[in-house]
Amino acid sequence: MSVSKNTQAFDEWLRTRFVEINNQLESIYWQQEDKANVEFVGEQYKHQLEMEGNAHIRKLLAEGNTDEGFDSAFDLLGNVGLFMGACRRHEITEPSRETTSPLVEASALAMHIGASIGVTPRFATAHLTTHNKAVNGLYKRFTDLPDEKLFIDYNTKGILAYKRVADALLKIQPLGISHPLCADLLKVAKQALLEVIESNNALYSQLDTDRFFFCVRPYYKPYRVGKEVYRGANAGDFAGINVIDMLLGLCFANEPSYSQMLVDKFLYMMPEDQQTLRESMRMPSIMDDFLAAGSERDSQWFQTNAQLFIQVCKLHGDTAIGHHNQLVSKFIAQPAQQMQQQHINKVTASGPPLHILLDSLEQLRDRRAAAQRDDIKTRFDDLTQLKQWMKK
Ligand code: HEM
Repeated sequence: MSVSKNTQAFDEWLRTRFVEINNQLESIYWQQEDKANVEFVGEQYKHQLEMEGNAHIRKLLAEGNTDEGFDSAFDLLGNVGLFMGACRRHEITEPSRETTSPLVEASALAMHIGASIGVTPRFATAHLTTHNKAVNGLYKRFTDLPDEKLFIDYNTKGILAYKRVADALLKIQPLGISHPLCADLLKVAKQALLEVIESNNALYSQLDTDRFFFCVRPYYKPYRVGKEVYRGANAGDFAGINVIDMLLGLCFANEPSYSQMLVDKFLYMMPEDQQTLRESMRMPSIMDDFLAAGSERDSQWFQTNAQLFIQVCKLHGDTAIGHHNQLVSKFIAQPAQQMQQQHINKVTASGPPLHILLDSLEQLRDRRAAAQRDDIKTRFDDLTQLKQWMKK
């Protein structure tokens, strides 16, 4: 389906001028002693950004973009969102300063599109990763900084690999755990989890902490659309990660803190992911299937498939441990400790104070790793039982 001239012009602007202006501002902030300060610096660039972006958006709003199909509407929502995200990063808007977004036209356009296609009216992770069209090898970004590209590349790699794991586990459902092809699917899941680990390790060793903390992450902060503040995008906003959690049986859709997280993230995902997640919330877990088949534990199929299942659980736990103990720790928790107190309240993408966010991520890590904890429910005992049933 073809898109309107106004949509194309806005996309073109985002891929060129928008990036140039953000680059200019980043280089000004970076030269300051307090790199987190954005107040009263680079004002002429901020003004240009706001003016040029609004001029495009005004035309699009008047055009009433409603009939160009889902893909084009989702893409345009992402473009409006990138503009609003950049305005928030440069504090052209600031949710704690305002009660409604000063970007009135951008808000109206974003709400119109978001509500009509069933997603939040802000840019989401998918816009920058899995649904970010490259033109001549270049996909949409905020800046030209190599660290931003590295971050998005490895987020995309990680998300795609997790999706391969989720697809393989979903295919086990109709076959059952004793099916000879169950082993093949568990091997696919194992391989893809190893690729998540490899990709996260590469990101961990290559990303520059200060560049990420001061010049990349601020674009992912919460911002207001209309009256409401929408939390920042994070790499977890796709169904696959939770499909894995629940199908493996490591996390439970009926546990308050986990279901709260699911409820909160639905609209940050693509509609097709929302559907997959809903379906997987109603499926039995593979762990429960193995435990229920305990009387057949000495059979060949049980020994082969349960062994592979245990390995998949271990690897899923390892990806979560790597995310928390390496990525979150090195790129968020540690630099936040050194940050000047006046900026500290604005560190997390999702909004809650850092220690609360870290605590909930730690609980997720321990559920995924089936760690032995007595304050939250984990599958430590059940996995121990399965391991004891293994002959070698
Ligand atoms: C969520 C940090 C890369 C997967 C989060 C959150 C933080 C974070 C702080 C909590 C949400 C928030 O603040 O809004 C980081 C950092 C990264 C990084 C510092 C690298 C520099 C990745 C990558 C993946 C990933 C490459 C792989 C796909 C997830 C998932 C969640 C999440 C699945 C949702 C919560 C969960 O289910 O665990 N991340 N992340 N992250 N991130 Fe990352």
